[in-house]
Amino acid sequence: MVTGDGDERPQAVGIVRREESSDATARANRRWWDADADDYHVEHGEFLGVADFVWCPERLREADAHLRGDVRDKTVLEVGSGSAMCSRWLTARGAHPVAFDLSAGMLRHARTGSAASGIDVPLVQADAEHLPFRDRSFDIAFTAFGAVPFVADSARVMREVARILRPGGRWVFATTHPIRWSFPDDPGPEGLRATMPYWDTTPYVEYDAAGEATYVEHHRTLGQRVQEIAAAGFRLLDLVEPEWPAGHTQEWGQWSPLRGAILPGTAIYVCELDAR
Ligand SMILES: C[S@@+](CC[C@H](N)C(=O)[O-])C[C@H]1O[C@@H](n2cnc3c(N)ncnc32)[C@H](O)[C@@H]1O
Repeated sequence: MVTGDGDERPQAVGIVRREESSDATARANRRWWDADADDYHVEHGEFLGVADFVWCPERLREADAHLRGDVRDKTVLEVGSGSAMCSRWLTARGAHPVAFDLSAGMLRHARTGSAASGIDVPLVQADAEHLPFRDRSFDIAFTAFGAVPFVADSARVMREVARILRPGGRWVFATTHPIRWSFPDDPGPEGLRATMPYWDTTPYVEYDAAGEATYVEHHRTLGQRVQEIAAAGFRLLDLVEPEWPAGHTQEWGQWSPLRGAILPGTAIYVCELDAR
């Protein structure tokens, strides 16, 4: 059950690596994104636009990348949409998107974006591990950094997306490049020193005074991610690792020109469901 738009910021008192269930992860991250929604849009709103489609902090635009193919008249599901600016961009190109997110706070910004742009998109509050959509009801699914790094069971998300796509449907998801797990989340020189074993997938957990998780990130190695994609019935068509463009000076959290010149920050998986 997903609800709420609690705006009280969870008070983290510490960080630990420990297992967290799907429910505990969703509870923590829903509260966290509810509380962070306003700050997120103050910090990144201009970069993301109201009806634009930017895949990642490296500023790769779908208008240039064409990762989802032709969208005209296609039904499209945006996973972990935040304020759904990508879905509005798609609507303006003749697609029929539905946008969903775990966080009511993020969806509140989606309604504001629709009012500001005059482009309405159907919005749903849902958890990516439990999609409230019929089998074979979409042609395309995608996400720009939504849900995938924030769920305990990303293999289940892959299966759920496979279930709601029509045969031959495309699933394109951008997420943190797996190599970044080994480095501290620091845009400066400290972020260039590997400190964590790449193969240790124990989740990153911030917790409050009662020991409850307040924010959780989950990691998969590249090999594990490919296995999850294949096990759900997808073929991996491409794995895009956008380079940091010359002249792009805008930092985004741990993403910076300094690190971007040396390490990939984003991986975009372009997958196609078996046509059967
Ligand atoms: C980094 S934001 C990206 C949002 C948007 N795609 C963008 O580019 O601004 C991550 C989003 O994933 C959502 N999210 C986290 N866990 C989720 C889950 N289990 N199911 C659906 N959405 C989730 C968050 O609420 C948040 O809106």
